[in-house]
Amino acid sequence: MTIDLDSIDLTDLSLFTAGPPHEVFRRLRDDAPVFWHAPTAHTPDGEGFWCLTRHDDVVWGAREAALLSSCTGGDRAAGGTLIEDLPLHFAAGVLLNMQDDPRHHHIRKLVTPSVSPRSLRRLEAELAVRCGDILDAAIAQGECDFLVEVAAELPLQAIASLVGVPQADRHRFMEWADAALDYRDRELGEQSERSLRAGTEMFQYGSRLLAQKRACPADDLLSVIATAQLPEEAGPGGPLTDIEQQMFFNLLVAAGSETTRNAITAGLLGLVEHPEQWGALKQDRSLLDSAVEEMLRWASSTTYNRRTATADIERHGQTISAGEKVVLWWQAANFDERAFDHPMEFDIRRDPNPHLTFGIGTHFCLGAKLARLEMRLVFDGLLDRVDALETAGPIERTRSNKHAGFRHAPVRFRV
Ligand code: HEM
Repeated sequence: MTIDLDSIDLTDLSLFTAGPPHEVFRRLRDDAPVFWHAPTAHTPDGEGFWCLTRHDDVVWGAREAALLSSCTGGDRAAGGTLIEDLPLHFAAGVLLNMQDDPRHHHIRKLVTPSVSPRSLRRLEAELAVRCGDILDAAIAQGECDFLVEVAAELPLQAIASLVGVPQADRHRFMEWADAALDYRDRELGEQSERSLRAGTEMFQYGSRLLAQKRACPADDLLSVIATAQLPEEAGPGGPLTDIEQQMFFNLLVAAGSETTRNAITAGLLGLVEHPEQWGALKQDRSLLDSAVEEMLRWASSTTYNRRTATADIERHGQTISAGEKVVLWWQAANFDERAFDHPMEFDIRRDPNPHLTFGIGTHFCLGAKLARLEMRLVFDGLLDRVDALETAGPIERTRSNKHAGFRHAPVRFRV
């Protein structure tokens, strides 16, 4: 049955609780590549938005960063990269991923060395040991909640090292990220008591930590942010503002912990559902890199990012006006038949695999190399230790149209 375009509601979170809404995205890609999504009862701000769903349109949109701003555009008084407007100077224009160049470019340049291949080579040895311990403990139980005990653990431990906080605090990060990103107790654009409490705690923790790093800088990413001096061209020069520093901490906690654990879990489930591909990986470990890329595509953990048009734009016969919201659906692009052969097949040998799971263009994910490294370590370690895997209970997904995530993933190991 053909889906009625007028009935599509991508702000209805229940549409995403059983996995990506593939049929809806296919209909949009085929028949409405620049789709005006009228507001529904669920839509934040009571305002519609444009949707881009084809791979080439999403790539175009992400690369046209001056025309499609991550901050704001037209005479809009708020903005950011969520469908719901976020206040200017508090989130939009302040979080690194919600800033535009040139300021974005200068801040990004400061932090890039902390996640360069050289820095990651140093972190790799530490993470390999941590990953081995995590896997040994999980596998010794015979079965476990893979999401909580494995997939969440390594990214949390990695972020704690990268940011320079005691490992003992890492589970608070997970609590905060969960409360901020999972809509289990609220709708889009709303706050719950839990999300507000988590926000306040994260803010207080972050400001104490930043004050420590300013007083006594160490060899970690947050110390770079706390002590950096921007050139005048970054407008204004000098230290990052207090709110920029604070929001960078929040961004790392959320971006660093949540997305990677979901990609690891989705990847594992891909292998459980395709045992012949698990078998192929067992036989030939040289497939691991392309398998990780396919897991990333399959997971599409960040479903979308929004932009705001800064000028009127014509595309596919539609006119997007300055100030209107435009949503880049990475997840829809990752399953576009125009860019991928048999996109609905999980294929660890897929080549080429131009997935957009980490975005593209000026805001390309800062943590992509770290996420890939963590995934390689987890699956390499599993392949070394486990003969076969199966699910040991229902898989529970998060309720969100922004993060394709999991709450629980019970898994049994055969060694
Ligand atoms: C599988 C895991 C991950 C996924 C799917 C993911 C996804 C993304 C996407 C799609 C963007 C682009 C946003 C946009 O264009 O608006 C992004 C940006 C970003 N990510 Fe990730 N991410 C992951 C892991 C990480 C990790 C581990 C870190 C922390 C080190 C991180 C930190 C960031 C930051 C700071 C940005 C903003 C970059 C900028 O604006 O220049 N991410 N990520």
